[in-house]
Amino acid sequence: MSSLSGSRTSGTKVLLGISAGIAAYKSALLARLLKQAGCEVRVVMTEGAQAFITPLTLQALTGEPVRTSLLDPEAEAGMGHIELARWADTILIAPATADLMARLAAGMADDLLTTLCLASQSRKVMAPAMNQAMWAHPATQRNAARLAEDGWRLLGPASGDQACGDVGPGRMLEPEEILAALLEPPKAPEAAGLAVTITAGPTREPLDPVRYLSNHSSGKMGYALAEAAAALGARVTLISGPVSLPCPAGVERLEVETAVEMHEAAQRLAPESDLFIGCAAVADYRAESAAEHKIKKVEGEEELVLRLVKNPDIIAAVAALPAEHRPLVVGFAAETRDLATYARDKLARKGLDMIVANDVSREGLGFGSDHNAALLLWRSGDGGVDQESLDPQPKREMAGAVIRRALACLARPPSR
Ligand code: C5P
Repeated sequence: MSSLSGSRTSGTKVLLGISAGIAAYKSALLARLLKQAGCEVRVVMTEGAQAFITPLTLQALTGEPVRTSLLDPEAEAGMGHIELARWADTILIAPATADLMARLAAGMADDLLTTLCLASQSRKVMAPAMNQAMWAHPATQRNAARLAEDGWRLLGPASGDQACGDVGPGRMLEPEEILAALLEPPKAPEAAGLAVTITAGPTREPLDPVRYLSNHSSGKMGYALAEAAAALGARVTLISGPVSLPCPAGVERLEVETAVEMHEAAQRLAPESDLFIGCAAVADYRAESAAEHKIKKVEGEEELVLRLVKNPDIIAAVAALPAEHRPLVVGFAAETRDLATYARDKLARKGLDMIVANDVSREGLGFGSDHNAALLLWRSGDGGVDQESLDPQPKREMAGAVIRRALACLARPPSR
């Protein structure tokens, strides 16, 4: 192991969490390898882990007292759990059992280890280990996906013979492999350095000081896109109409009300952007002039005529920017029939590079829902149009697929 000494781990403060799996016997070697690589190591064991390996073993290997309980006044008097959470710059859980993964995915804090994970803003890595059927179970797979979304890096599991006699995926990676993965330099995220602007939500067009024209857009798809782009390292600005959603972490939000305000913000930001996504449900018309005072009912008049004028087409205006200031432009199309035909037409008419077409007549999908299905159409390098159909899926997943496709289009030399 001498080749690892003095490496990037030198001085790294690793909180090694051990949960109740038979692979816990390998955690002793892992603790030793981490120490040899120059890490400071403190160990936290769940109650069940102590049935597989003793705290004394880990204490002897790390030279530090091992923490096992949240409610231990003596240990808390030394380094309290919040202090311990702040101390760590890496939390490494090996082995991570199915139960621990489920508790972490649910955000529980019912013992010392889960509490530390919630309280710490450190890098978080886990090496799952369990019976192959438990790993393959949809609940565990759901939890693994949720943990990855929450920022956990999952190492393994590996496939092979298991202590229980089964063969399949579920073995904890070997301690040497875990250490090597910790030493890997972090990869630059796919969208690092890119500026992305996204319009989202409805617009609100005032009729008078108390009334407006609007629509049912929840903003969920646009917000999911912003979150997905930010997760891939992009600098994201969300131009948002009025919605009741929190601003995703790491995203800058510009709140607007009317289509004209959204248009002005888009015109300002788009020339500085690499990618512009128009996901907002923009009102096509606004009142020619909003009344200064509340419009009153007039006795005897059964009709009120509102004169509306067309709003700017925000995305078409961005797509028409001169080439040197023009980002890649992605639009949305909500249709109830002939999805591909109408979307293709809109792609051409608005001068877009890519369009995400939704069939809004499908029950449980689209407006207000957490799920969506779509047909993606984009201009291919040879001047044609390529397409991909995305099955019904959570908007968060669809957002990831849309962003990845847009990144692939951006990586291509421009044909427009
Ligand atoms: O024309 P239609 O409203 O169907 O087009 C939808 C696409 O155009 C979406 O990407 C939407 O955000 C964008 N749009 C816009 N400005 C408008 C109308 C639509 O940016 N005034």
